[in-house]
Amino acid sequence: MLKGKKILVGITGGIAAYKIPLLVRLLRKAGAEVKVVMTPAAKDFVTPLTLSTLTGHPVWSDFFNPADGSWHSHVELGLWADLFVIAPVTATTLGKMHHGIADNLLLATYLSARCPVMLAPAMDLDMYKHPSTTNNIKALEQYGNIIIAPGSGELASGLCGEGRMEEPENIFQRIKDFLAFDKMFEGKKVLITAGPTYEPIDPVRFIGNHSSGRMGIEIAKVFANRGAKVTLVLGPTQLSVNHPSIELLPVTTAVEMFEACMALSQTSDIMVMSAAVADYRPLKPSDKKIKKQDENLSLELVKNPDILKTLGRNKKSGQMLVGFALETDNAVENARIKLTTKGADLIVLNSLADEGAGFGHNTNKVSLITAEATEHLPLMPKSEVAAHIADKINRMLLQLQ
Ligand code: C5P
Repeated sequence: MLKGKKILVGITGGIAAYKIPLLVRLLRKAGAEVKVVMTPAAKDFVTPLTLSTLTGHPVWSDFFNPADGSWHSHVELGLWADLFVIAPVTATTLGKMHHGIADNLLLATYLSARCPVMLAPAMDLDMYKHPSTTNNIKALEQYGNIIIAPGSGELASGLCGEGRMEEPENIFQRIKDFLAFDKMFEGKKVLITAGPTYEPIDPVRFIGNHSSGRMGIEIAKVFANRGAKVTLVLGPTQLSVNHPSIELLPVTTAVEMFEACMALSQTSDIMVMSAAVADYRPLKPSDKKIKKQDENLSLELVKNPDILKTLGRNKKSGQMLVGFALETDNAVENARIKLTTKGADLIVLNSLADEGAGFGHNTNKVSLITAEATEHLPLMPKSEVAAHIADKINRMLLQLQ
């Protein structure tokens, strides 16, 4: 099932390294070709001999071979791999990866790899909870790495808590799931909007909203990881993403977002409008800061262009258009009306009523609404919601053929 897949396994110096030969064994048994790169500290926990025997390849660890002075190319290793899985990843390596420090072969390979990278952090619970670790993981996730979060359980220190590397069988499953889909959208161009828009009132004030853009960013990552070329038109947000198959187009206002989408719509196969676009903008933003004067201040607002609706009107046959909806009353009914009025093929209905769903959360609860059916999904991480949306679009595209 992994026949012909090239998997580079990176091992860093944590006690969980002793479990990696089992992961390598599972990958080999499933037909993958495996090479191993390890940090010098990892060799204290698991021997290169074990890993070279299991993989049938030498194990890479030094920049050059001291016996004959030959150079070990981190670039070649990175280019060879379809997927780079680093497990366990220690707190030190997380920090170095975040800051671009490449003082060993594994880190240099990471920095030059063009393939998707999965990281399975493992450390003691207090190290895992430390803000610097949390920030490093967050940043690495934003760089486009796939994080396999550690589980909870007994740790090597004798303490019990979060930080235990995910079991090799589960890492293997994640790899299988990931690679099963890696060509699903090959050759497809995907246009995604995400985040809020800011509509200027004057040079220092704007009308905006609380959208973080996370849902749209996760959708962009899923499409990119499954072979698509993605353009992400992203409104102003703290979040970002760095992925070789995602072109990021930052915009501020709804009109800028509209113009970016119009320029790209003709060449896009799939368009997912997840941005929380402001419906109105101030008619005449002041070019000077508005002074506090009278008791009341009136702003005249004008309607922004509806990007989704415009795309729906001009949709070419074979193009797939997805919109989002956030409704408080008669949610499904209204979302279904939106499907027709906006000319979309699929509406993702956000739940406002459920705790942990919507703006600012890492989880979301949505329903997928098409002309034929309504599918209610349970509360789940936004990355999984994104995978469900991509699966649904794939099924719809297959039906079109
Ligand atoms: O009409 P409403 O704002 O409820 O519709 C939400 C959907 O329409 C979302 O997919 C959103 O991205 C999109 N939208 C848009 N342009 C607007 C307003 C909303 O593309 N001006």
